Amino acid sequence: MAAVLDSVRAFFAPSTFTLDLENAGDVVARENLLDQAMGADRRKKSSEKIRRGRVPAEGLALVARDRSGHVIGTVRLWNVEAGVDRETRPVEALLLGPLAVDAAHEGKGIGSALMRAAILEAKKRGHGAILLVGDAAYYERFGFFAEKARHLVMPGPFQRERFLGLELKEGWLAGAAGMIIANGRKLAQLPIAKAA
Ligand SMILES: CC(C)(COP(=O)(O)OP(=O)(O)OC[C@H]1O[C@@H](n2cnc3c(N)ncnc32)[C@H](O)[C@@H]1OP(=O)(O)O)[C@@H](O)C(=O)NCCC(=O)NCCS
Repeated sequence: MAAVLDSVRAFFAPSTFTLDLENAGDVVARENLLDQAMGADRRKKSSEKIRRGRVPAEGLALVARDRSGHVIGTVRLWNVEAGVDRETRPVEALLLGPLAVDAAHEGKGIGSALMRAAILEAKKRGHGAILLVGDAAYYERFGFFAEKARHLVMPGPFQRERFLGLELKEGWLAGAAGMIIANGRKLAQLPIAKAA
């Protein structure tokens, strides 16, 4: 991971931000950032249903920090099954999102740096494809296209033209058809205290 972050940092140098793996101390800042960037309705999205109760894919929860270490950008990726292939075997993939950058820092290349680092790291870890729901006008620059997800559906309302895919391994999504379902590790359940 360090090599990926360094190479993306170098690409955007000189920079006023750094990329890092998210840690437990970043959660409050990340949630505040997402509420500000996307509004409270973000929790009603179909993608959110896939993420709920799961932990992100290993090594694929990234943050951008300002010089003081404050979180000013976030992106996470999640393990999913992207329907089945022609032999009806589940197609493993990643679902990316949410991606958000603090409004005070937009347009400085932070969103792009997070995207490029996430894609490189996912590739390095051997993943085959990434899916997301977002504006094609933004995500096409990173190689995401609706055509790659045309036989897949989200488990809830979604706009077909905003449902995009990127193959990290050629042909990974060819023939993939069906519904996206979560298959990442579940968040540990806190034991329920027994009544005395
Ligand atoms: C979208 C977002 C992550 C971009 O982050 P950023 O750090 O400002 O992005 P970058 O600096 O890397 O890129 C800026 C470029 O992307 C373009 N861009 C930003 N959002 C865009 C969108 N929705 N559609 C098309 N282009 C967009 C900008 O116009 C700018 O273009 P330019 O390079 O030609 O000037 C950020 O604006 C954000 O958090 N928005 C609110 C949450 C959100 O919409 N998340 C994505 C869900 S689709």
